[in-house]
Amino acid sequence: MNKLINWVDERLPIVDAWNKHLAKYYAPKNFNVWYFFGSLAMLVLVNQLVTGIWLTMSYNPSSEGAFASVEYIMRDVEWGWLLRYLHSTGASAFFVVVYLHMFRGLMYGSYQKPRELIWIFGMLIYLVLMAEAFMGYLLPWGQMSYWGAQVIVNLFGAIPVIGDDLSLWIRGDYLISGITLNRFFALHVVALPIVLLGLVVLHILALHEVGSNNPDGIDIKKNKDENGIPKDGIPFHPYYTVHDLLGVAVFFFVFFLVLFFFPEMGGLFLEKPNFEPANPLKTPDHIAPVWYFTPFYAMLRAVTVDLFGLDAKFWGVVVMGAAIAILFVLPWLDRSPVRSIRYKGWLSKIALAIFAVSFVILGYLGIVPATEGRTMVAQILTTFYFLYFILMPFYTRMEKTKPVPERVAG
Ligand code: HEM
Repeated sequence: MNKLINWVDERLPIVDAWNKHLAKYYAPKNFNVWYFFGSLAMLVLVNQLVTGIWLTMSYNPSSEGAFASVEYIMRDVEWGWLLRYLHSTGASAFFVVVYLHMFRGLMYGSYQKPRELIWIFGMLIYLVLMAEAFMGYLLPWGQMSYWGAQVIVNLFGAIPVIGDDLSLWIRGDYLISGITLNRFFALHVVALPIVLLGLVVLHILALHEVGSNNPDGIDIKKNKDENGIPKDGIPFHPYYTVHDLLGVAVFFFVFFLVLFFFPEMGGLFLEKPNFEPANPLKTPDHIAPVWYFTPFYAMLRAVTVDLFGLDAKFWGVVVMGAAIAILFVLPWLDRSPVRSIRYKGWLSKIALAIFAVSFVILGYLGIVPATEGRTMVAQILTTFYFLYFILMPFYTRMEKTKPVPERVAG
């Protein structure tokens, strides 16, 4: 075995890579549960890739055959129901894990210098993930697949001058059709997964270049021993590889509980109208995207005024786009001298709490049909969402922070 390793190593530096990224990658010793979600995101990514490949073996990407092929997978393909539910529940699990992973970043200031690029790669991953999920949802060719895609692609039509041509170009037809299905299939199973994998590699490389942050936001590289090893660091392997297995066990427990007993989560993961084949002549009573898009959908619907000769739909799209774009510049909005929420002042703590609660309530408002009262609540919460970012340069500088300890405790 050693001989084989040496033989390969002389031609490809696998030992170096193993050491650099695992055995001699010194991670802070004070990681808490929030640090499980990065490795869990990788686990779910692998699950999506593997189950996706197997689903593709029996799926038929045509408007005539798609719906029936999904039914065939569910009923006749051996273990097909498990493959399909692993993939569809996996999609929701992906967003649960990624949202918690992002929230950890917000709490501990993981996006701050020198980790800006890790954050930006993360945001690009998030964008591609949204595109991937959106296109995947069209594939079963159910009523919500069809009408959800119709609504979202039509949003591009709200852009002045080029809008109509742009949505026509995306659809490849005058309405969502088999042509749209074919291109979404190609992008969903080939193009976007490649981009996603590439971005995840860059995300990890950027992380390993500067080293992990931690719940205290302490820079462990400032305190090294005589061998140049951070005193508060421990080798990722075996310590965190074993530690992360605990996260995997707990995750599997919850994931399989949902998968076996509530695979559609009462219409939240797979919406009820999606069990009817797509019908271009019959609009469902209420069209709503899947839960992970609904906070942004609520923001879109919250904009109800026409301004500067452009209609509300256009401004809704602008607000939705801005809600995501503003996350990209987060590293430059936070002016706090400390990273972790533990040492930030009350203003940061209250702002983060209001932001998180607003995002969750917006998610709920995006699922239920809009009423006048709900629209008003969505308008207020959308304002809170943006104020968290816009006021950040001010409240992070104004507030009194606590001194950060030199060393990690415990
Ligand atoms: C496919 C999706 C993703 C995968 C597989 C992934 C993977 C990872 C892994 C393995 C880590 C190191 C372990 C950890 O700190 O938890 C990490 C760290 C990090 N990720 Fe992600 N990530 C993903 C998406 C995102 C997104 C969407 C963002 C934010 C927009 C993000 C931001 C970060 C940041 C800031 C760190 C450094 C955290 C720290 O050191 O405190 N990641 N990621």
